[in-house]
Amino acid sequence: MTAILVLHGPNLNLLGKREPSIYGSLTLDEINARLMEYAQREGLVLRTFQSNHEGALIDSLHEAMSWADGVVFNPGAYTHTSYALRDAIVASGLPVVEVHLSNVYAREEFRHRSMLAPVCIGQVAGFGWRSYLVALYALQGYLTEHPGHRHPQT
Ligand code: DQA
Repeated sequence: MTAILVLHGPNLNLLGKREPSIYGSLTLDEINARLMEYAQREGLVLRTFQSNHEGALIDSLHEAMSWADGVVFNPGAYTHTSYALRDAIVASGLPVVEVHLSNVYAREEFRHRSMLAPVCIGQVAGFGWRSYLVALYALQGYLTEHPGHRHPQT
């Protein structure tokens, strides 16, 4: 069975309250519930995790190496700064899709640069909570077409 980690980075625990005109009015729990619904329909195993701490996100990527086939990752502002997360993605060997609720390219200059996108299989930005859904769908398709990339234990 295909197993996917949905990883949420800093400040995403505040979704619903945080700048709703940019990030939408759904809470993180509501977004996760919608993704779970999709996963159940599709027969995917899905685990979700949020942290405001870079190290905890790195630990979660390391841990995913033992059970997940791929990762849908919204790294928040760490997208633009984190060499450590970039190294963790490479070290994990897992296919990762970078996700953003907002269209980062239509915002401040510092958001136009991603440290992580070059080591991800792709990026989805600008579709609000549906960015996660699109990323999940794309990763699912990728894993079907690249069975060699799946974790050997699944
Ligand atoms: C974000 C975009 C980042 O630039 C920002 O720092 C976030 C959220 C998004 O989902 O649009 O925290 O990743």
